[in-house]
Parts: sequence; structure tokens; C-alpha cells
Amino acid sequence: MYNAAGNACETPKFFGRRKGRVIRKAKAFLLEQMLPQLKVSSQSDFKLPDLFGGEKKEICLEIGFGDGQHLFGQAKNNPQNGYVGVEVFQNGVANLLGLISGIKEGDHLPDSLQASDYPVHNIRVFDVDVRLLFQNIPDGFFDKVFLLFPDPWPKKKHAGRRFVNPDNLKEVARVLKKGGLFRIATDHPVYKRHVLRTMHHCEAFVWTAHCGDDWKREPSDWVRTKYQMKALREGRRPVWFDYQKV
Ligand SMILES: C[S@@+](CC[C@H](N)C(=O)[O-])C[C@H]1O[C@@H](n2cnc3c(N)ncnc32)[C@H](O)[C@@H]1O
Repeated sequence: MYNAAGNACETPKFFGRRKGRVIRKAKAFLLEQMLPQLKVSSQSDFKLPDLFGGEKKEICLEIGFGDGQHLFGQAKNNPQNGYVGVEVFQNGVANLLGLISGIKEGDHLPDSLQASDYPVHNIRVFDVDVRLLFQNIPDGFFDKVFLLFPDPWPKKKHAGRRFVNPDNLKEVARVLKKGGLFRIATDHPVYKRHVLRTMHHCEAFVWTAHCGDDWKREPSDWVRTKYQMKALREGRRPVWFDYQKV
């Protein structure tokens, strides 16, 4: 296995889905035409201000952006910031590209496309396991890291698959600036307990909540995600754990 920089490395096991059954025409077009223009992978991509073609106030990372609603919403609402989104599921990546370009299934597709022609310019994408990207990101690169509704793997025998674990936390802490925000949202009772327990033992972070409202209410800059909507429809209450890198 090779990492994003093309160096040989140990393959981390990934247990989720990478591909859906079908990639439809517009999505295939976006993955072929638009993704290469927005893709980051190597160490040299993580040079500021080149990464976003100019200075940015804050640089943020979203891990497992799913269909991209939060990533796209944040980027659109905050053009002064830059966003790197990571997602392994091909349909999710294509969905984000659809949000950026406005291209939908059934639309007439152009022969080619320029990502810079669309109004949201501050998103870069990595379409592989984030653990293969970490080693290419310099220390203290990000102001914020979002991990929203990660797969809960609620069964005890699958607990080792949960993203919130000491190895990943070490990397998240390393790529965050001192004082930076690490936001974890979840609706799953097992994962809520898992986050509280695991983060309590992680010396790199402090929980910023002072009262229930600080973690049971949607943050002021929040954009709703697909999995959050699913949780709400099914009667589960999401929570938002905001941690600060010490
Ligand atoms: C339950 S979904 C949540 C998606 C989205 N954040 C939302 O709230 O709608 C978790 C997502 O994380 C992605 N994911 C899981 N592990 C990942 C990893 N190591 N690197 C990148 N993406 C990952 C999965 O492919 C999946 O789309």
C-alpha cells in the first residue's frame, strides 16, 4: 500500500463502504472532471497560502464529510476560511462536488469544467482514508477539526474500529493549532459515552462545555448534516462535544 505521497506504508484497515452500487452519469462526470482540480494529497499541497490561492483566516478539516452538507455550508458561509474535506465514500465525494457546481443528475453536462468558475472556492478534497493523509499534514496546520456523526460501531467487539481512539487523537492533536477546536457530534448513546471516556483520558484536549446547553444545542455556526437529519427523524438527540487543544 502507498500513502498519498506515494511512499510505501502499512495499510490501515477500513471497515466502511467506499463505493455504492451505482455511480450515475453526473456524479461520474464530476469525479472525473472536478475532483482532480480540488484534490489534495501530498505534503507539498499543504503549503499556505498556495493551498487556497490566497491568505485565509482559519483553516479547517472535516473528517468523513458524508454528503458534504456541513463542509459546503461552512465554506459558503465563511469565504474568509479554507476547508479541507476528507471522505472515502465515492458517492459522498460526488455529492459534495454536485453542491459546489450545482450540477445534478439529468442536467446537460458540459465537455469540461473549471472548478474556479463556481462561487465557492475555498474547499479542497481528499478522497481516501484520512489516516493516510495525516502524515502529510504539518504540525499545527488547522484551526478547527470537525468529526461529525462518525460511524458509532456500537458493538463491543467492534469498539476498535471507532475513529475516536488514542492513535487518531494523537494525530488530530498534532495537526491542530494550540487553542484550536476539535468538534465531535454524535447521536449514538454508546458513542457519546465512548467520546467522553476516551477524551477524558486524552491530555491534549480540554472539554469547553460549562453547562448542558453548551453540548446539547446546535452550535451557532452549525450546518445540518444528512446523518443528523436521519437521527432526528428516528428520535435520537445529537450532542456536540467541543474540545480545545491545550
Ligand atoms: C456516519 S457517516 C457521517 C457522514 C457525515 N459526517 C454526516 O454527518 O452526514 C460517517 C462517514 O465517515 C466516513 N469515514 C469513516 N472513516 C473514515 C476515514 N478513516 N477517513 C475518511 N472518511 C471516513 C464514512 O465513509 C462515512 O461517510
